[in-house]
This record gives sequence, C-alpha cells and structure tokens, in this order.
Amino acid sequence: NNVDQLYRTGYHFQPKQNWINDPNAPMYYKGYYHLFYQYNPKGAVWGNIVWAHSVSKDMINWIPLEPAIVPSKPFDKYGCWSGSTTILPGNKPVILYTGIIDLKPAPGHQVQNYAIPANYSDPLLREWIKPDDNPIVKPTSENVSSFRDPTTAWFNNGHWKMTVGSKHNKRGIVYLYRSRDFVKWTKAKHTLHDKKDTGMWECPDFFPVSTQGTNGVETSALMGGIKHVLKVSLDVTRFEYYTIGTYNTMKDKYYPDSTSVDGWAGLRYDYGNFYASKTFFDPVQKRRILWGWANESSTTAEDVAKGWAGIQLIPRMVWLDPSGKQLVQWPIHELKTLRGEKVHRRNVKLNKGDIVEVKGITAAQADVEASFKFSSLDEAETFDPKWSKLPAENLALEICGITGTKQGGLGPFGFLTLASNKLEEHTPVFFRIFKTTDNKHKILMCSDAKPSSLNKGTYRPSFAGFVDVDLSKKKLSLKSLIDHSVVESFGEGGKTVITSRVYPTLAVGKHAHLYLFNNGTETVTVDRLDAWSMKNPLLMN
Ligand code: FRU
Repeated sequence: NNVDQLYRTGYHFQPKQNWINDPNAPMYYKGYYHLFYQYNPKGAVWGNIVWAHSVSKDMINWIPLEPAIVPSKPFDKYGCWSGSTTILPGNKPVILYTGIIDLKPAPGHQVQNYAIPANYSDPLLREWIKPDDNPIVKPTSENVSSFRDPTTAWFNNGHWKMTVGSKHNKRGIVYLYRSRDFVKWTKAKHTLHDKKDTGMWECPDFFPVSTQGTNGVETSALMGGIKHVLKVSLDVTRFEYYTIGTYNTMKDKYYPDSTSVDGWAGLRYDYGNFYASKTFFDPVQKRRILWGWANESSTTAEDVAKGWAGIQLIPRMVWLDPSGKQLVQWPIHELKTLRGEKVHRRNVKLNKGDIVEVKGITAAQADVEASFKFSSLDEAETFDPKWSKLPAENLALEICGITGTKQGGLGPFGFLTLASNKLEEHTPVFFRIFKTTDNKHKILMCSDAKPSSLNKGTYRPSFAGFVDVDLSKKKLSLKSLIDHSVVESFGEGGKTVITSRVYPTLAVGKHAHLYLFNNGTETVTVDRLDAWSMKNPLLMN
C-alpha cells in the first residue's frame, strides 16, 4: 500500500494506513489507556470491520497491538461493530459489542455480544475471548438491522443496566436492558428514552456529570450532585446531539431538562466534523474523557489514492458548565507535552481589515490560544429577522455560509488557519456578534472550510455554532489545534467546539501560515496570544 503522507496528521491518533471510524470501548486498565476502534485492515474505505487496538500511558503516544476482536464466530461472522467497556467489580473489564450475523437485511442483522480478557494480569489486554453463550442480546423482529452500539453498563438496585441504540419507523430509541450477572439480559418494558422523527440513534452514551467542578464521576455514580447526559449519533444528519437531564432510577427512565432539546436542533459536543463519540471515566485523574471520530472531507477516490481515511480527535475532558445547561470540553492536559517553540504576544491591536501573521511556529502543526477584547458592543450588526425562518438545526451554519468573513461590525475576528501566502486558501475560525431585536446578543462561532481549498471536490462546509456567553466582560477566547488536515477549535474555554477537516493544495506543510484578523468596524485587541509549534509524539501507532 502506498500511503500519501502529505495530509497525515502529526499528533492526532491515526493508524499507519487504511480506513478508521468509531472509537470503541475506551478504558483505563493497570497503567494503560486503551483505545479500540472500527478499522478496515484491507483498505481506505469502510468495510471488513474489526476492532483495532492501541495502548498508551498518556493518550498522546500510542503503541499499536493486534486487532482485539475480529469476525470469527457465528455471532459476529460478518462484522464486529461498535461497543463499550464496563469495568466489573474486582477490576474486570468486559466489552459489549455488536456482531453482524447475516448480511441481510442491510446493513446487516445485528446482535449484542460480550468479550472478556484472556489474561487479566496482562495490562495490555492483548487477547480477548468471545464466550460461546453469545449473543447475549437479540433484536426483536422489527429492528434487526437497526439495533447496535451497546453502551457502558451502570449498576443500581441490584442490576447492571445498559442501552442499545435503535429506531422504530422514524422514532429514535435507546432500549434498556437489565442483568444481574452480565450474561443473562432482559429487555425493560420501557425504553430509557426515545424521540419521534429523529431516525436511528447510533452510538448512544449515557453518563452522570457532577453539578460542581470539572471532575468526572463513575458511570454508576448517583450520589452528590449529579445530572445525567444522553448523547446519540444521528445517522440521518451525521451529527450528534446530547441532552442534559435527570435519570430516575426507580422508573429507569431518563428525562431531559426543559432547557435541553431532543433532536436535530439539540446541543452538540462539536458543531463540525465529529461523530460516533464515546466517553469513559478515568479513575486515576478523576475525569471524564470524550473520544470522537472525524471522518474525511476528501472524496472516496482521494482516500483510496492517499491510502487512509479518518482520524480520532484529541481526547477532551468534559464536564458540566456551572449554568447546568451545557457541557464544556477541553483537550486533555497531556497534549501540552508536545508543545515546542512558543510565540507570546500581548496587546495586538486589530483595526478593521487587519491581518497579522503569527510567525515563528510551524503553522501547519500548532496549538494557538488567544483572548480578544473590545471596548463596546455598539457596532454589533443586526441579526437579520429573516434568519429566524431558517431551520433551527442549521441556523448557525447557514448564517456562517451567508456572511463568512465579509465585513461586519463587531467581528468577524479570530484566526486564519492553514492559510496560503496570498490567502487563496485559508480556514478562518472566528466570532461574529449580532444584536437581536430584543437588544440581546447572539455570538456566532464559525470554522469555515469554504475558502479552505482550491480543490472544489472536497467537502467544505461553513460549520458554526452559537456561544452562550455573557459579553459584559467584552472578551472572547479562542483556541485552535491545527494539524495539517484538521483544525479543532474551542470557543470561550470550550463552551462551543468546532472541528473542520480540510485539504488545502497550497497551504501545505512549510507553506502554511497562521494569521490573526479582524474584519469588523469595531477595533479588537488581542489581549494575549500564545502559540506553539506542536511536535510529533515519539510513539504513534
Ligand atoms: C457509526 C456506526 C455504528 C456502527 C459502526 C460500524 O459510525 O455506523 O452505528 O456500529 O459505525 O462500523
């Protein structure tokens, strides 16, 4: 296989070659973080799916191991699809995953299986056993081909509980199952949660978050100020959404809060290229960590030509915002070990039309943080009342597509990442502030791939989300992780996050530049800028 290295990432998780999708069963065990993922050993397109396996001490450096779970039994003959780990008492990990037992009906007849380590004393958990009493959960007749991706189980009232993603007609569903011994599972009369007209719920994730501070809690935790989060991946839109709510353990029902909407207009971890994510609790650092897959923006033909497709994004710590209305995310602190040359600047004034280059770092592989301040909100442009007629689930994206970086009032300001010399190509990441008729403000954050490449064949959406922030401090912060064909951006300390996969043709390697910019009438000052070249990890698969 000839693998084109040009757009490969330097510090994101990637195998040497071939197709990858969902992160599976992340866990910590005896000194190592484990990551499994959907992998095609035979090529750069989806198919022949096995569970590839890598281990790490820091989730930055990775050692590849042999695939852990591959089709071999009648209960997973045609594929080993996504799943999760549960750590049973006595520190005994068990994996639940979806097996494909027949190619018909498309995309395959799905059952749930379990696998256990062959040797608990091996911290690398190299070998997994698939016991013969599999499958442990079978679908009912109406959903045999939409019944997959079992979650990490949680324990209460004498039972293990877990959910499986599904749909019935167009209703998205997470079915609930209970077990005393983890082998014999019974379907609950009621679903954990469901919602009409949302389509198939792939890769559900259900976990508690603490109402105070940034620490994570174990998946079974119920005590001491807890809310619950339910995340699902919608195969219709290829976006994920989550709600924050209450889990009633007696009824075994989940109720989203009124501030959290179910469905396509819901909250997202990431308003860009991010799918099939999964969290796990890190017992060592008491944090909940989120892994997400970023699919390609290149075409299938380009993927085949370059020999690989898909990356896993930098793991993020995730916690509940003090408002209780949304989650907050930030790249794990271990990433800082890759920081190299640094540029630090203070008080960079940006008048309308200013573009200031950040020199002295490798712009194609960088970590950049800035805080922007402004003296008034008066210049904020009017939020066009016509826009309120746009579909709610796409509102931010549509507005970003209409306005881009063209001149505004307060903003657009931010970064031009992966920019070519004459800006023929650039991926702008920026804020734009609007005034609404009720004299409030709407803060749009954009990661606009439209101008990212002269190659018009690639997928170049104007990804965007709103930032729920009080502007009375007249400040906004932005962080971007730039890595050749990916830009992961964190607005206002991780309140809004957007990932773009981009394929510039000129702004490649040494030819990529990074700029600060402002194209609004209000002058903006970069209070503080810190940017680093990012090194490659010593070990990467
Ligand atoms: C999500 C998904 C899962 C499935 C897996 C197959 O991307 O479609 O629902 O288990 O990928 O690779």
